[in-house]
Amino acid sequence: MMTTFWDEALIAKYNVKGPRYTSYPTALLLRSGFPVDKALHALRSSGPALSLYLHVPFCKELCYYCGCNKVIARDVSKADRYLTALLHEIALYGKTCADKTVHQLHFGGGTPTFLSEQQLTDLLATLRQHFYFLPNAELSIEIDPRSCSLEKLAHLRALGFSRVSFGVQDFDAQVQQSINRIQSVEMVQALVEKSRELGFKSVNLDLVYGLPHQATESFATTLAEVVRLNPDRISLFSYAHLPERFAAQRKIPQDALPDAGLKLRLLGLAVEHLQQAGYHAIGMDHFARADDELTLAQQQHKLTRNFQGYSVDPCDALLGLGVSAISQVDDLIWQQQKDLNDYYRQVEHGQLAIDKGLTLTLDDQIRADLIAQIMCNFFVDSAQIASKWQLDFDNYFANSLERLAPCFADGLVKWQGCALEVTDRGRPWVRVIAAAFDAYLLPQQQNYSKVV
Ligand SMILES: C[S@@+](CC[C@H](N)C(=O)[O-])C[C@H]1O[C@@H](n2cnc3c(N)ncnc32)[C@H](O)[C@@H]1O
Ligand code: SF4
Repeated sequence: MMTTFWDEALIAKYNVKGPRYTSYPTALLLRSGFPVDKALHALRSSGPALSLYLHVPFCKELCYYCGCNKVIARDVSKADRYLTALLHEIALYGKTCADKTVHQLHFGGGTPTFLSEQQLTDLLATLRQHFYFLPNAELSIEIDPRSCSLEKLAHLRALGFSRVSFGVQDFDAQVQQSINRIQSVEMVQALVEKSRELGFKSVNLDLVYGLPHQATESFATTLAEVVRLNPDRISLFSYAHLPERFAAQRKIPQDALPDAGLKLRLLGLAVEHLQQAGYHAIGMDHFARADDELTLAQQQHKLTRNFQGYSVDPCDALLGLGVSAISQVDDLIWQQQKDLNDYYRQVEHGQLAIDKGLTLTLDDQIRADLIAQIMCNFFVDSAQIASKWQLDFDNYFANSLERLAPCFADGLVKWQGCALEVTDRGRPWVRVIAAAFDAYLLPQQQNYSKVV
């Protein structure tokens, strides 16, 4: 069902800055000097199911809109030093995880396919040597289509990868030029078709709305091409414009960016187009086919979310490897050094590169549970939260419910018995609704992107 997303009054009222809640508390609250012993102790005593994330920061060219942690490098040999550092890190963590089983491994970036076939083979061999993988562990990888030949794709399949995600962003020539990322529909199509032929279980395409020069007509053409390529999943990210943090974004002229009204029209258009093509909206920014496990999990209110995105398998521990990678184990969140030189300095001195971290308080854990349910399922069962955490919901969240009063009045959220539900009209504003339950928000707010 379609709603009018681009309600000007709602935009004026709610388009503030706010977190995306890939975690609560958010990564901006992590503090330096997090003790390595504490991280290792938590990892050792956590349950057996492990999810690994490995960050490869290199990219051949700079996309101006990019907000990821990346390093531009022309030559693939630039990655050799990084791979040696990763080898040390994998060996150190592997010892701690001797009794764990890897259920999921995700390569993210940057561009993991910056690595050569040989480098990828060696890296997988190192991981399999130091960690025990479930025979049917799910291996997924992010791919910049410009960095992956059909042969390299076949190599990834042979290494055991079963899920691929290709960055598309937008197919329009003017948009591509303004973000310094030229790639044809034909190039992406060849990779998607080859992925099917090779038996990859799932193909995802990334799109971004809110990019410079995007317009409804040309974005509709991009959406039609994407639907024609028939991916299993689509990520539709809201462009996060933070030029004070990402220098390359300063190359994008402010007047080429869609205003908030147009941005919401682009979102509305995408939702309409993708739903008509049979995709279901998953959480805030993903779409999946009706029979996809994410769709089924959302319908059963069982979807979870972590730093890697939406998931149906909430592993006991998420361990991040490589520069800037984030880990979450029980009540701890930690992040490795974000700067490549700092990362090298620590790992090459035989240490783990853990930099910042945080121990969640009981209140953090309660709010994290509730915020994750809002972000994933657009739904919170207040009775379930009350019984799980032994609290009186109305009393415990009195301040939050008061902060939510305007959202109730505007029909963005409603009570359905014990269930607090985000309405269709409220979906684009789910970050605002989650933020009402955030105990830290006000002093930090300036560092986030606009919610729309
Ligand atoms: C690490 S990249 C994917 C792999 C590969 N580097 C590529 O670009 O194809 C992850 C995705 O983040 C999204 N992204 C990057 N910068 C963004 C920004 N500033 N705002 C919103 N999404 C962004 C893009 O959709 C991109 O495909
Ligand atoms: S969008 Fe992808 S390819 Fe482009 S700079 Fe960012 S990480 Fe690299």
